[in-house]
Amino acid sequence: MLAKLFRDISASCRIGSPLTYTLLNSAADDLDAGGITGRAMAGSERDRPGTVPGLRFAAALHHVVLDGRAPELATHYPSVGGEPRLATLWPAAEATLKEHEVEVRQLVRANAVQTNEPGRSGPLYGGLLVASERVGGLPVRLLEVGASGGLNLRPHKVAYRLADGTVLGDPDSELQLDPEWTGLPPADLSRPLVLHSRAGCDVNPVDVSTKAGQLHLASFVWADMTQRLERLRAAMRLAQSDPVQVERAPGAEWLERQLAELPEGVLTVVWHSVMWQYASPAERERGRAALAGAAARATGSAPLALLVYEPRRAHGNFELLLKLWPAGLSLRLGHGRGHGLPFTWEERPWG
Ligand SMILES: C[S@@+](CC[C@H](N)C(=O)[O-])C[C@H]1O[C@@H](n2cnc3c(N)ncnc32)[C@H](O)[C@@H]1O
Repeated sequence: MLAKLFRDISASCRIGSPLTYTLLNSAADDLDAGGITGRAMAGSERDRPGTVPGLRFAAALHHVVLDGRAPELATHYPSVGGEPRLATLWPAAEATLKEHEVEVRQLVRANAVQTNEPGRSGPLYGGLLVASERVGGLPVRLLEVGASGGLNLRPHKVAYRLADGTVLGDPDSELQLDPEWTGLPPADLSRPLVLHSRAGCDVNPVDVSTKAGQLHLASFVWADMTQRLERLRAAMRLAQSDPVQVERAPGAEWLERQLAELPEGVLTVVWHSVMWQYASPAERERGRAALAGAAARATGSAPLALLVYEPRRAHGNFELLLKLWPAGLSLRLGHGRGHGLPFTWEERPWG
C-alpha cells in the first residue's frame, strides 16, 4: 500500500523534480524489498492517502540535508549547492536513512504536508481584486484557513511583475513574483488592493520568525526546485518585516468563531488553498455549515466571499473559484498549476 502511494505521488514530481521522483521510486522499491524505508515509515503505514506519506518522507530527508547533517546526500541536493546524480542517489539516501532512522520516522509521523507556497499569492491577489470590485470596492478582511506559515497573508505587499512590464502590488517588495499570467483578472488593475485586516489558522502553524520554522517549510520544497526555494526565502523575509500570527486551530472551529459576526463596511473573504484534502470529511461538513450560516447573514454592507484555489480532479489542474453573498455570484475565475503559477484568467459561471 505505502509503496503504491509513493509511486503514485512520484508521478506528480516527474517533470518538476527528477530528484524527488527518483527518490520516491527507489524508496518504493525498497519498501517492496523490506528495506530501511519500511522502518523509517513505521507507524505511518495506514495513513490516509490524502496525507501524502511519500512527500512527508522526502521532506524528512530534506530536513536532515538542509540542517547540514547528511554531507554525502547533500552532494545530490541543489538546495544546498549539490548536483543530482540520479544513478547513485539511492545509496546515499539509504545511508542517511540508516544514520538518522529515528529522526526521519519522527518527522514523518509528526508532520503534515506543509508546502506554504507564496506563488499562490498571484491568484489570491487577482481574486481579491475581483471580489472587492464586485462589492463596490470595499476593503477586504482576509481569513485564511490552513495558512501554514502565513506566507500568503500579504498579497498586497508582493510585487507582481507582468510580462508587459506592468508591476502590480508593491513594486519595492522583498518578494518579486512573475505570476506567469495568461490573460488578466477581470477587474480594474489600476486600483490598489486594500486590506482591512488579515488572520489565519492552521492545525499545525509554522512560526517563520524562527530558524526551526524556516527549516521546516524549506524541507517541503522539492530540493531541485531552487527557484521555489528562493521564492520561499523571499516570502519569509517579507514576513519578518510584517508579522501576522497564524492561530493554532482546526479550520472549521476557527471559521465558526471568525464568522460569528460579519463587520459592516468590509468584505469578509474566506480563502484556502491546497488544504481541503487534508481536512477530515466531518470537519469539511462543519466548515461548510459555518460558511452557509454566515452566508445567510451577509448583507450588502457586510458581504461575504469564499475564494479557493484547490485541485479539481476531474480537470487535472487547480481552479480559482469565487462565491459572493448576498449577491449570489458564483464564478470560476481561472485555472493554473499547483504552485499558483503559471495561471490563466478565464471567467465563467461556476456550478
Ligand atoms: C499544503 S499546505 C498549504 C498551505 C497554504 N494554504 C498554501 O497554499 O501555501 C496545507 C496546510 O493545511 C493545514 N491543515 C490541514 N488540515 C487542516 C485543518 N483541518 N484545519 C486547518 N489547517 C489544516 C496543514 O497543517 C498545512 O499547513
